[in-house]
Amino acid sequence: MNLKDLYINFFVSKGHKQIPSAPVVPENDPSVLFNTAGMQPLIPYLLGEHHPYGTRLCDYQKCIRTNDLDEVGDTTHHTFFEMLGNWSLGDYFKKESISWSFEFLTKVLNIPVNKLAVTVFKGNDLIPFDEESYNKWLELGIKKERIALTEEDNFWIAGSSGPCGPDTEIFYYRNDGEVPVNFDTNDDNWVEIWNNVFMQYFKDDFGKITELPKKNVDTGMGVERVTAILEGVNDNYLSSIWKDVIKVIEDVSFLPYEGNEKSMRIIADHIRTSIFISADYAGIKPSNTDQGYILRRLIRRAIRHAKKLNIDINSDWEQLIAKKIIDKYKKYYHELEDNENTVLEVLKNEKNKFNKTLEKGLKEFSKIVSNNKEIDGLTAFHLYDTYGFPIELTVELAKEHGLKVDEEGFLENFKKHQELSRNSSGAKFKGGLAGNSEIETRYHTATHLLNAALKEVVSKDIHQRGSNITVERMRFDFNCDHKLTEEEKQKVENLVNEWIDEGLEVKCIEMTKEEALASGAECMFIDKYPDIVTVYEIGNVSKELCGGPHVKNTKEIGKFKIVKEEASSAGVRRIKAVIE
Ligand code: ALA
Repeated sequence: MNLKDLYINFFVSKGHKQIPSAPVVPENDPSVLFNTAGMQPLIPYLLGEHHPYGTRLCDYQKCIRTNDLDEVGDTTHHTFFEMLGNWSLGDYFKKESISWSFEFLTKVLNIPVNKLAVTVFKGNDLIPFDEESYNKWLELGIKKERIALTEEDNFWIAGSSGPCGPDTEIFYYRNDGEVPVNFDTNDDNWVEIWNNVFMQYFKDDFGKITELPKKNVDTGMGVERVTAILEGVNDNYLSSIWKDVIKVIEDVSFLPYEGNEKSMRIIADHIRTSIFISADYAGIKPSNTDQGYILRRLIRRAIRHAKKLNIDINSDWEQLIAKKIIDKYKKYYHELEDNENTVLEVLKNEKNKFNKTLEKGLKEFSKIVSNNKEIDGLTAFHLYDTYGFPIELTVELAKEHGLKVDEEGFLENFKKHQELSRNSSGAKFKGGLAGNSEIETRYHTATHLLNAALKEVVSKDIHQRGSNITVERMRFDFNCDHKLTEEEKQKVENLVNEWIDEGLEVKCIEMTKEEALASGAECMFIDKYPDIVTVYEIGNVSKELCGGPHVKNTKEIGKFKIVKEEASSAGVRRIKAVIE
């Protein structure tokens, strides 16, 4: 049985319900592009909402982390990975969590106790030393020389705000030699394999820490790393997870893995991640923004490395690799099977598109290299615009030739270009808000009023975090550290309706970005806006940077009604509302 099955069976035997892996593209969290940890889809429940499966949960979760995308190519980094997790939502706490982790490692995976070490939260001014965890580890037979007390590394939070708490991390000695008596956290032979977080706090956007209504447990163990450890290999790509994928890459390139590791790892990793992104029901396709841009970068980087291995890039090489990966994973993730054709098509289309310009682009690049010490912004933009080289690819190529790229200059040219084609990017400036139908326009203006009313009734520090409008309803996400009370909701709704009834005039004013900011206009992502912006003013109650469209007078909106208020992600609440 493999690690995932062993893990799930074990935690089910301890009263946990297995929950399905959430999509890699988060459904309800506008603040991140991808799920980066098993706990992310569970945030509302960690904050206190009732979970339909109960209080003990376990799963394997698809995760994507692109912050160290450039590191991929070594033995341990991956852009996609699976995280095993078990959770207590106000049910068991430290003792049970630690005992079960220990039992799973030593009795199910048969790891000798002598190969293990742990870290425990040392304590600071705000939160005390985690004595309970310390004592539990001693009781289970971990020697005190193998327990390190640390502060920074033993407090876990996803990003900068949200549910959080002290954790205890379990390490494995990944070396065949004798295991040292003392656990030295700086010795790289000790690798972290499991993290048990005791989530009992909430940190708000301003850094304030409060107790959560319930004490939770959130754990995470990386499948790739632990599989490699159990199989005794020092290169993750030599484990059973990757071996046969690498074999396909050897076959299509007619080259051995040895000596070509870096490019083969990049191809294997990037194609796997591209498969998982494009198999999600969100329907992400390669593009120049957000998740689509990551997908494009991954596929194009894989193609570039395939070319480095002299693979005939017009052949079906990527289809063969992708099919192997899909076959391996479809038992666990049925969307790979359901959307297999879509995935294969995404890869093929993007490959065909890039192949058309790659050859010429590389020739152009060689010319640039022979004539320059640095690649200026305009040249980098030319490579992007004409040959489809994502800036990161140009930077990587340049690095291989010992050259620097003026990335800021690239960005300036990129922005200039965006302004020239403002019509096409206008849709983006609207922040994904409204279409142009009459009802959507009314909803759009209502979101500005709702934003203003939340500031007035709940807190002046509330800002929009996301919004979505259809002809049937509006959805509005905003930062807030608590569930709105009935009274707050009612007051907000009443205030919006008052403003509607007052028949306030909606004015559109053009100004520079700086002027807009100085005037105190509300805006979500200032970087995303062109230099000249439009600001919409509603009476004297609201002023926001926005691409419109809006009604001329608030009377046109109709009656505003909040239908739902719920958690959306860490520190973010969501209101769904309709106009009647
Ligand atoms: N959420 C914790 C982590 O990602 C378990 O390490």
